[in-house]
Amino acid sequence: MVQNKFNISFITKKFKKSNNYNASADLMMLEGDTLKVIKKIPNKKVKLIITSPPYNLEKEYEKKQSLEDYLNKMSPYIKEFYRVLKNDGSICWQVGSYVNKSEVFPLDIFYYKMFKASGFKLRNRIIWHFNHGLHSSKRLSGRYETLLWFTKSDNYTFNLDKIRVPSKYPGKRKKNYIAKNKKVSGKPSGNPLGKNPSDYWEIMTNEWELGFWDIPNVKAHHPEKTLHPCQFPIELVERCIFGFTNEKDLVLDPYSGTGSAILAALKNNRRSIGCEIKKKYIKIALDRVKKLEEGKLPYRKFGKPIHIPSGKEKVAQIPREWVKKNYNFNF
Ligand SMILES: C[S@@+](CC[C@H](N)C(=O)[O-])C[C@H]1O[C@@H](n2cnc3c(N)ncnc32)[C@H](O)[C@@H]1O
Repeated sequence: MVQNKFNISFITKKFKKSNNYNASADLMMLEGDTLKVIKKIPNKKVKLIITSPPYNLEKEYEKKQSLEDYLNKMSPYIKEFYRVLKNDGSICWQVGSYVNKSEVFPLDIFYYKMFKASGFKLRNRIIWHFNHGLHSSKRLSGRYETLLWFTKSDNYTFNLDKIRVPSKYPGKRKKNYIAKNKKVSGKPSGNPLGKNPSDYWEIMTNEWELGFWDIPNVKAHHPEKTLHPCQFPIELVERCIFGFTNEKDLVLDPYSGTGSAILAALKNNRRSIGCEIKKKYIKIALDRVKKLEEGKLPYRKFGKPIHIPSGKEKVAQIPREWVKKNYNFNF
């Protein structure tokens, strides 16, 4: 059992150990409002900021306000993110929609303008698709959120080979094609390391979504689930970490919650900083870090294939009562 593997530095009221930026720490936990505590981080230290900010949805950690007020308040945070990011750094900003009286406001549309105005350049607008969530009755059910990947400059890290996924048809070959006077016909057309994962991500569409189905006790069985209402899947963060950072780089989650981004960083030999306003989430995050140190952290393995129901599962079958009533199914 590996104990105290990580050098952890706290700038928290409860877990106070050090009060200054510690360049050699594997993890720094900053407790408080990010706008205040981020001042502890010197300029241009962070390689990747990855986060899911509050969406103004009246979760237990936020007060609902007008969309305009909410966005205005986020503006100074974005300036701080720009300040702490290295010139070759990236920010991955994962958001859904703000909803008011059933009217939907996709937050990425608003945030795009704010990040662009601060000097960031958009590289991808990634669709994160999942199969769980509320069933809407006045509009189509929402089944994706977005992850905006911005870089601070044109010189940025992009390790495509680290995040390739298996090709569907690796045996495909080039046909009657002549490139730069070289005949390539008959050669494999793909990349032996797999294909580009694209900007459409289906991550955790297995156990994660089962956790939201009406299957008794499954939620409790999800390997990563804690009491936090909007937790990141570790695997989602890992793809960004592999793609946009190198080993030893510093990863910041300015709204770190239960520490999913911190865990993804530490697990993959990156250093990390988390900022979080709620003590109870910091405590969960630190418990999870301890479990990681001890090799006991439950998590979904990176790149685990997506589950496709066979149709034989009880939950995949049409209920007997509906069959008897002879509904006119259109599927
Ligand atoms: C969407 S959650 C992030 C959850 C996180 N990705 C995880 O996997 O657990 C947003 C988090 O930001 C925290 N938060 C909200 N406002 C904050 C602020 N001004 N400063 C620091 N943390 C804040 C909330 O307590 C909440 O845990």
